Amino acid sequence: MVQVRKQKIADQADRHHLYQESVQDTEAEIDFVEDTWRELRNRPAELLREDFCGTANTACEWVRRDQYHYAIGIDLDAEVLEWGRLNNLEQLDDEQYARIELLQDNVLDTQADLADIILAMNFSYFLFLDRADLLEYFQGVHVGLVEDGILFLDAYGGYDAPKELQEERECDGFTYIWDQDSFNPIDSLMTCHIHFEFPDKSRMEKAFSYHWRLWTLPEICELLAEAGFDKITVYWEGTDKKTGEGDGVYKPARVGDADPGWVCYIVAEKW
Ligand SMILES: C[S@@+](CC[C@H](N)C(=O)[O-])C[C@H]1O[C@@H](n2cnc3c(N)ncnc32)[C@H](O)[C@@H]1O
Repeated sequence: MVQVRKQKIADQADRHHLYQESVQDTEAEIDFVEDTWRELRNRPAELLREDFCGTANTACEWVRRDQYHYAIGIDLDAEVLEWGRLNNLEQLDDEQYARIELLQDNVLDTQADLADIILAMNFSYFLFLDRADLLEYFQGVHVGLVEDGILFLDAYGGYDAPKELQEERECDGFTYIWDQDSFNPIDSLMTCHIHFEFPDKSRMEKAFSYHWRLWTLPEICELLAEAGFDKITVYWEGTDKKTGEGDGVYKPARVGDADPGWVCYIVAEKW
């Protein structure tokens, strides 16, 4: 009798699909961008540049929102861009598809058109490991924005952020595992991985790995100011009174809570 080896779920799963399902909430992100732009500017934003765009999921959400929205997604990695083109851009209608462009480029030396909004989300700029490189990136973004343009970033921290630990979260049909594998307190460099586990106990190990620096908010804000940004505001998440958890509403703040783990937005206005 021929023994048929049953395929494990992990062997068939698609890491980019799992990432989009577990890590990203592009609707909430673009809600925040649109609401904040509306509060700060008296004109509609049109061109959004998504730096470190990966699968360009967020850029697609931008072009879906309005017929006057255009997007440029920039990433170094041809493989992730191609996945985004096949799986996200192909879901757009022809008219929306015509308003998005993907560039395989380094965000440090891109010559993309001047944007109203530049996004660098999911902490991607943490990949710049020293001051000089992060400053160069912020200076490039400053040049890449129109006169009243705005840079939107996110950041994370809290007293659990530099710990070597693993956190699990149940998602639809799989478990997402965030692995803070190593942290060096001397240079603040850390290596983190994302693993996925499935109901048949199969695992996709190190589906994504990041070697980055755990930047602090004052360091980031000081570098943004040095790069020429006129106004830099931290938007801190409110607390749901019933659950004690974050309520998903981010407001300008000067004082944050000393939580074990927080995520915030930073909004840097060119003027
Ligand atoms: C953490 S993922 C971010 C994905 C996406 N922005 C999100 O919100 O989930 C980081 C991405 O940045 C890209 N990347 C890293 N360094 C880059 C650089 N210097 N220029 C352009 N892309 C870069 C990687 O290829 C990877 O796709």
